[in-house]
Amino acid sequence: MDHSDAISATPSKLSPIEQAKRLAAYTAVDEHIRPNHKVIGIGSGSTVPYVVERIVQQGEELNKNRVFIPTGFQSKELIVSSNLSLGDVDQFPTIDVTIDGADEVDRDLNCIKGGGACHLREKVLAEAAETFILVADYRKNAEYLGTNFPGIPIEVVPFAYAKVLQNLHHALGSPNATLRMAKAKAGPVVSDNGNFIIDAPFPPETMKDPYKVMTRIKMLTGVVEVGLFCHMAQAAYFGNQDGSVTIK
Ligand code: 5RP
Repeated sequence: MDHSDAISATPSKLSPIEQAKRLAAYTAVDEHIRPNHKVIGIGSGSTVPYVVERIVQQGEELNKNRVFIPTGFQSKELIVSSNLSLGDVDQFPTIDVTIDGADEVDRDLNCIKGGGACHLREKVLAEAAETFILVADYRKNAEYLGTNFPGIPIEVVPFAYAKVLQNLHHALGSPNATLRMAKAKAGPVVSDNGNFIIDAPFPPETMKDPYKVMTRIKMLTGVVEVGLFCHMAQAAYFGNQDGSVTIK
């Protein structure tokens, strides 16, 4: 399939990184969103607008029979402003395909998500999907998790955040785990679900077994969801600077 319009359209307006994101997004949509797909999950972050852009290019005729499920406030706005039909996962618990961004993806397609604090809903939509696809620029492609994106995002109920921080510092081996603060230290970041976010870095050796890290954190009372997605994605598309796409 020809994805050259992803690199040729308005090249001067997009930075090389944005072009790489768009290339990944366009390629993934072309490969995975089929005419028979009626329920589509839309993830969060700065790569996902290109996913929606490409879906809109598939035409009104196809899209009028589809419903789009957002992972958060940003993707909800994106769906509505693109004149696509909005649904929710409680009405559509089975999704044909979900396409989402990632903060880092390892060689086994495990990934870190939650840089935008949306990983609880993102994981629900990933699990609800028959096919879950990741899109990103080349900077997110790593051998092991924690290489370029050290902190694992953890959503916690506000009431329990100090206790969970203590657990991470003293029992789980993440002494530098911190509560994520809003810009200008205006207070903690609050997720779409009204919860706080902790970012917890772990040593590289520990990150070689992300499933074990994820399950240990999930066991802590007060943790709502961990931004480690293990064995969930079927494929990841990375746009490169030279206009090629790496597919894992
Ligand atoms: C939000 C996420 C995003 O998908 C992730 O941060 C990637 O974003 P971007 O495409 O801007 O790099 O997990 O919670």
